[in-house]
Amino acid sequence: MAAEVGRVGVVGLGTMGAGIAQVCVQAGVETVGVEVAPELVERARGRITHYLGRGVEKGRMSAAERDAALNRLQLSTDRADLTGCGLVIEAIVEDLEAKRELFAELDRLVAADTILATNTSALSVTALARATGRPERVVGMHFFNPAPVLPLVEVVRTEFVDEERYETAYAFAKRIGKEPIRCGDTPGFVVNRILIPLLNDCVRVLDEAGVSPEDLDRAMRFGVNWPIGPCALIDLIGVDIHVHASEALHAALGEPRMAPPQRLVRMAGDGLLGRKTGRGFFVYDT
Ligand SMILES: NC(=O)c1ccc[n+]([C@@H]2O[C@H](COP(=O)([O-])OP(=O)(O)OC[C@H]3O[C@@H](n4cnc5c(N)ncnc54)[C@H](O)[C@@H]3O)[C@@H](O)[C@H]2O)c1
Repeated sequence: MAAEVGRVGVVGLGTMGAGIAQVCVQAGVETVGVEVAPELVERARGRITHYLGRGVEKGRMSAAERDAALNRLQLSTDRADLTGCGLVIEAIVEDLEAKRELFAELDRLVAADTILATNTSALSVTALARATGRPERVVGMHFFNPAPVLPLVEVVRTEFVDEERYETAYAFAKRIGKEPIRCGDTPGFVVNRILIPLLNDCVRVLDEAGVSPEDLDRAMRFGVNWPIGPCALIDLIGVDIHVHASEALHAALGEPRMAPPQRLVRMAGDGLLGRKTGRGFFVYDT
């Protein structure tokens, strides 16, 4: 049922898009990455070159493999360069109107059989499919951060999707070394639907039980065998990203546990965003 994707496009080369493009070129796939400005193209090139270089330093790939991967990467500010792609993965800002505008244009630009995928965490894939004239070609491909490290991809189907294209997207995720799962277009898909309220419960327990972040993390690591404590995990995700995702899930499903705890809202307002600002629940070297 699944067809083989030749060239892949990635639109938006921030945290997620640069990581996804890196995974694709490392897996041997010709990749076209598109950003909005030349300096953002150069930032993405620098980031991907840096992480591939680290792979060489750590003995995970040879210098020749790194160079071959970089040679498969074409970067541009022109969406027209996506025309030859069999699959385009969108990873631009989490804004419905921006994504709808992009999908409508991609729909006009690329061939009729090109699959359009979105990496959205919280928006409706169905709403994006509706922005195109061919909603059957739109799927969700939800990667996790950091994309080169975490294997999961949630491959999201809508009620419109064409099964062959869906299976092609699933097979592509496998081909680039990921562990895809199949799921429907429901708020939070699978992982965030479970993880967001769970992490919010953990944060509420801090105040309810008068426990420190250090001890809460030790409780979940040593009592439940979590590989990382909940406070350290929120620091890694980014407090602002977690608050935003909680608000979106709460707006969609209305369960009180999904609303961000006040402690996190205050931390986000105070710029205590976790690892990326050097301080969240814990302090980090920046
Ligand atoms: N950060 C995460 O943990 C994470 C995890 C999974 C999914 N996501 C989703 O991935 C998407 C991107 O998130 P991110 O964290 O990488 O954001 P980011 O802000 O790091 O990157 C977004 C990039 O898109 C670019 N961009 C914006 N509009 C564009 C356009 N029209 N054309 C081309 N490029 C454009 C921006 O210049 C920016 O570099 C969002 O939908 C987000 O919900 C994020």
